[in-house]
Amino acid sequence: MPVIVNGDIMTAENVREVFASTGCDAVMIGRGAVLNPWIFRQTKHFLATGELLPDASIEERVDLLREHLRLSVEYKGERAGVIELRKHYSGFLRGLPHVSRIRMELMQFTEAAPIFEHLTKFLELYSPRPQPA
Ligand SMILES: Cc1cc2nc3c(=O)[nH]c(=O)nc-3n(C[C@H](O)[C@H](O)[C@H](O)COP(=O)(O)O)c2cc1C
Repeated sequence: MPVIVNGDIMTAENVREVFASTGCDAVMIGRGAVLNPWIFRQTKHFLATGELLPDASIEERVDLLREHLRLSVEYKGERAGVIELRKHYSGFLRGLPHVSRIRMELMQFTEAAPIFEHLTKFLELYSPRPQPA
């Protein structure tokens, strides 16, 4: 019978420790993935190479947040989808400059369009596209 371990697995290193100490077949990650949506990619890489990948770039985070918002609205409807997303801002934007201010700004919206606009502005501010010469 396959044995799956879960509970308090928050990092790639935790996964390796759990596999080594229990000999389980699989692990499940709950809150660790809400706080760090890249934990699966980081864990697969860490288990294969022993190397810890850096956190995702600003562009990747904002891209995935946009996709998450789009799907959340499609699945739950505009208002509920936008409100549901609020609990994910901290994880997606973790460690970036001025996170708490940006999160507060995003929290005030109940429609998706201004969030998309705000994320575009945020991206331009922190990761400006090269201007043509
Ligand atoms: C967003 C979220 C939703 C969850 N929904 C359920 C659920 O519907 N049923 C359930 O039995 N456990 C649910 N859990 C509990 C998880 O399955 C897991 O047992 C718990 O979060 C402990 O693992 P963790 O430390 O990796 O978060 C949920 C956890 C999270 C974070």
